Amino acid sequence: MKKKFYITTPIYYINAKPHIGSAYTTIAADVLARYHRMVGDDTFFLTGTDEHGEKNEAIAQKEKIDPQTYADKMSADFENTWDSLNISNDNFIRTTNKKHKKLVQKALQKMYDDGYIYKGEHTGLYCSGCEQYKTEKDLVDGLCPDHKTKPKNAKEESYMFKMSAFSDKIKKLIKNDELLIIPTSKKNEILSFYEDGLKDISFSRSNTRWGIELPWDKNHVSYVWPDAFLNYLSGLNWSGSIEKDNKMWPAELHLMSKDILRVHATIWPAMLLALGLPLPKKLFIHGFLLVNGQKMSKSIGNIIAPDELIAKYGVDSTRYLLIDATPFGNDADISWEKFDEKYNANLANGLGNLISRSMTLVQKAEKAGIRLKNNDQKSDNYENQDFIHNTDKVWNKYKKEMDEIKIESALKITWNHIKFLDNYITCAKPWELIKEKDAKVGIMLYNTLEHIKFISVLLWPFMPTVSDQILSSIKLSPSKERALDIDNTIKWGRIPEKIKTKKPEILFPRI
Ligand code: MSP
Repeated sequence: MKKKFYITTPIYYINAKPHIGSAYTTIAADVLARYHRMVGDDTFFLTGTDEHGEKNEAIAQKEKIDPQTYADKMSADFENTWDSLNISNDNFIRTTNKKHKKLVQKALQKMYDDGYIYKGEHTGLYCSGCEQYKTEKDLVDGLCPDHKTKPKNAKEESYMFKMSAFSDKIKKLIKNDELLIIPTSKKNEILSFYEDGLKDISFSRSNTRWGIELPWDKNHVSYVWPDAFLNYLSGLNWSGSIEKDNKMWPAELHLMSKDILRVHATIWPAMLLALGLPLPKKLFIHGFLLVNGQKMSKSIGNIIAPDELIAKYGVDSTRYLLIDATPFGNDADISWEKFDEKYNANLANGLGNLISRSMTLVQKAEKAGIRLKNNDQKSDNYENQDFIHNTDKVWNKYKKEMDEIKIESALKITWNHIKFLDNYITCAKPWELIKEKDAKVGIMLYNTLEHIKFISVLLWPFMPTVSDQILSSIKLSPSKERALDIDNTIKWGRIPEKIKTKKPEILFPRI
């Protein structure tokens, strides 16, 4: 049976346009979704926008438009940006979507009927940037560390969620890795948060109208977080009956950064337990993209838009530069200088040059009447170096890294293979062999083309268009290749010896 793989990104707030921070999570999720499709898993990839809440209502008021018009405009911005980054999401969920609202109402009603939601009053320090109540412990010099703003004292009549009832159970599930939190340092952070036990939490707002009405009390709308979390179910086109199983639930992986881990490791599992549903299997927490050491955010004003990167480097290079910025899980201090340097070294001079020189050589050999020859991956010796063409070994290493969500490592493995091939060509000096009409070069160049095909497979999750361009240049049809099962795709020796290659356009113009 096919393995299933349901992956989500956070649904993004629409108070600001998409920036490369949200693009980073979305590209990473796309890489994983494409990889899982490539290895034959039954994959579903969900992203979307989180559109309710105080801050959006306030912006719409300021712009003198109704919140729905504002939400439509901003949400479209996200969808368009993900399209321009070639994101292959299977659905784009909006929390203002009718079906979603209906599901939220059903879920909250069920929790209310089962006694998990009760009427109370909530007081506390509210940060509208985070749409979360904060404790004194969370603040740095009285300010929210993420938004550098002072949370306001809020007091309101509120329906409360009995989160405390699930504290011990969730703690155990996290401890036993039944709800796996990666990396372990984050798991430990959460476990120490659980030391004090979970408190009940406010689940409704009566001082804002921009939200989903509680079905049993129209004076209240749902707090944004329960509304937002339920996207992970409604985005699967959930039938609306919460008890009914959906074949994709539970999610294999919720991807996010550390700013929203705590809510994902407390409120969301507690809601699922209250609803009698299984918990997601993994939460993977990646690092922040930092500019001059600070997290990119609208309030700090250090935002870089994905469009700016695409305009300068192109779509696939943008995807490459972001994923390559840091080991997946660590923070990355990014800068235009670092991007330029990497683009020129690894893309223009690296991959781009490799493809171009290889195609030129194969065409020269053809003109010289040299036939390409498949020697079945036997090793080749040049300049006392043995070039053993074991692509299976590389594939297994790559696969292991991808399965462990070490996507930047898998990308590094791909680049090691690119370097290996470059070195092979440099040592073999095929241009000399062609001049001498040495038939050995036929084997060497056939191997080169097979490695290029293999590289295009490794690249596919990361740089899908470039991968297709490379396949086309060796006269393989990208759609036919993608339709094969993976063992056949990577199988050595499928390129015909009589192939007529086509030199692709310059893949990466130098900057
Ligand atoms: N709407 C909530 C999530 C609800 S999910 C049920 C939210 N939205 S958000 O727009 O603030 O998105 C936060 C997420 O965006 C982070 O967890 C991370 O995935 C991504 N990033 C936002 N800024 C980022 C960086 N500077 N660097 C890396 N990722 C960033 O929270």
